[in-house]
Amino acid sequence: MSEYLPGLEGVPATRSNISFIDGEKGILAYRGYPIEQLAEHSSFEETTLLLLDGRLPTPAELTEFDDHLRRNRRVKYNIREMMKHLPTTGHPMELLQTAVASLGMFYPGNECLTDAQLCDDLNYIHNMTVKIIARMPVLVTMWEHIRNGYDPIAPRCDLSYAENLLYMFSGDDPDPLLADIMDTCLVLHAEHTINASTFAALVAGSTLASPYGVVAAAIGTLSGPLHGGANQKVVSMLKQIGSPNKVKPWLEQKLAAKEKIWGFGHREYKVKDPRANILQKLVEKLAQERGVSAEFETALALEEAAAERLGAKGVYPNVDFYSGILYAEMGIPSDQFTSIFAVARSAGWLAHWREQLADNRIFRPTQVYTGEPLRDYVLIDRR
Ligand code: COA
Repeated sequence: MSEYLPGLEGVPATRSNISFIDGEKGILAYRGYPIEQLAEHSSFEETTLLLLDGRLPTPAELTEFDDHLRRNRRVKYNIREMMKHLPTTGHPMELLQTAVASLGMFYPGNECLTDAQLCDDLNYIHNMTVKIIARMPVLVTMWEHIRNGYDPIAPRCDLSYAENLLYMFSGDDPDPLLADIMDTCLVLHAEHTINASTFAALVAGSTLASPYGVVAAAIGTLSGPLHGGANQKVVSMLKQIGSPNKVKPWLEQKLAAKEKIWGFGHREYKVKDPRANILQKLVEKLAQERGVSAEFETALALEEAAAERLGAKGVYPNVDFYSGILYAEMGIPSDQFTSIFAVARSAGWLAHWREQLADNRIFRPTQVYTGEPLRDYVLIDRR
């Protein structure tokens, strides 16, 4: 009998050359490029193409890809009509999962996947990838208006991916500093090896499900608070703590109750997540321009107090710890934070989908059976 490892800890689920983590040294690289360099020099559009193709694009390739993304932003009006009938009380991640799954009906085209021989059709894979990544922020922001009783704002082709995301939330021309910060946030969240949602995408992809089904499976998996849903929880936790001087007693009480601290800990990292370092610097940059938010001061105090209590276990801030503070400053409602994560991560999911198809075998793990031995059925009148 094979050994059962809860949470598949340490079990390789695939071979991949897309990204790499060294959790002891706090290193994350996409296609070999350190995340710090990508955050400083790259854009979400370029990083997406890097993740998909495995190399930095030439200027002409990037322009063509960017143009392709911009031309695929519009969605059919029946998607808007469908959204109008969904309950406004639903969580935006439920909406996003529903809307992405519905794209498969509005934009069919999974013919190639009916025959495994055709899964190396890179044009098909690339076009489907663009159709989804281009529309993710459009679906997220459409819902923001519809759930508040308004018609959505149409996307603009003259704006970059990050600029258009901010524009579609507010209807105002995006602030250049906020657009720049949003672009970096998208780069930081675009990919992260075989995390739970990417694994869900791989499993769905391995059945030759359509890419809409693949991304919908990943969105559902990302929504949980142990994964992408933590960024929403962090901001409400910081508000609940209230101020830096209340951090220590609050932390002691939570740890005594064996509760998890949102935005801390990671299966892979035993030091502070390198993305949290970059996000923290972005919050500092924003604070220089606009003043320090109460949540940021509380967050800094919590990081310091938690280092004393949890550092020995290798539990430090992860990517979700500082991202929510930035999104709140951008005027994005807290229940949409995980949707922004999903927008960015669609790049990584679809890069893994492509990699999976290139050498596919359906996922079918085994189990350790802990049930009853074989036994005879008992007729109902004898029970
Ligand atoms: N707060 C307090 N203690 C934590 C912690 C946290 N956020 N994360 C881990 N720990 C502790 C555990 O209690 C455990 O301690 P123990 O050995 O004394 O029992 C130890 O660290 C190992 O944690 P474990 O839950 O086994 O790690 P995991 O790899 O299974 O889980 C996470 C990883 C991310 C699910 C977990 O750290 C967590 O729930 N974090 C909060 C949610 C979050 O921020 N998620 C976003 C991830 S990017």
